[in-house]
Amino acid sequence: MKKLVIAIDGPAGAGKSTIAKILSEKLGYVYIDTGAMYRAVSWAVLKSGKDVTEENILAVAKDIEVRLENTDSGLHVFADGNDITNEIRTPEVTKIVSMVAMLAPVREKMVHLQRKMAEKGAVVMDGRDIASHVLPNADLKIFLTASIEERASRRYKEMAAKGFDVELSELQKDIAARDKADSERKVSPLVKVPEAVLVDTTGMTIDEVVEKILDMCR
Ligand code: DC
Repeated sequence: MKKLVIAIDGPAGAGKSTIAKILSEKLGYVYIDTGAMYRAVSWAVLKSGKDVTEENILAVAKDIEVRLENTDSGLHVFADGNDITNEIRTPEVTKIVSMVAMLAPVREKMVHLQRKMAEKGAVVMDGRDIASHVLPNADLKIFLTASIEERASRRYKEMAAKGFDVELSELQKDIAARDKADSERKVSPLVKVPEAVLVDTTGMTIDEVVEKILDMCR
């Protein structure tokens, strides 16, 4: 089978990273989680101890070296050589990441890296603007979504399993706020391009979703 470039976009909690990860393993492709890159910058902003202002975010983003590495134990995220794979998933990082991802210079730097990583093909990249901006020539474009209730409930289970004390209603509010911020921002908002295939995963199992997308690849 030809080595494909697969773009998966969609709102928070739609299951993009779960699906993209399994898909990349099954196909023997590289998995690129672009949200993790914006999270890495957000983590570094918090780590700097400075106020979360546009000026401080841009200063951190300018100097940071973000790197993704596909390993046998999954995708690892590095900031300036430090493995911060787990640190980028905290509620604190999640709270500020939309603000970080809104800023054009931050996006330009990350998009440049993302395109470089996809140069050789055989990649599954997930995010919000992959089909619309990062890889407009992708072979397969998927827009993955699910009802807000289902997305909040999946996030709740994921966070609870990691030991975070979170409220389902709060999570649903956070996700709705993030959807709004990501969809309404000026630079590269979350959007379904006309040629993307809509996959609504509400009520579907992970296996069903993976199989459906593998079918499209074939
Ligand atoms: O997919 P995620 O929840 O890890 O993404 C974190 C944030 O990063 C999300 O609120 C939107 C932003 N993001 C983006 O703006 N563009 C991308 N390509 C990926 C993520």
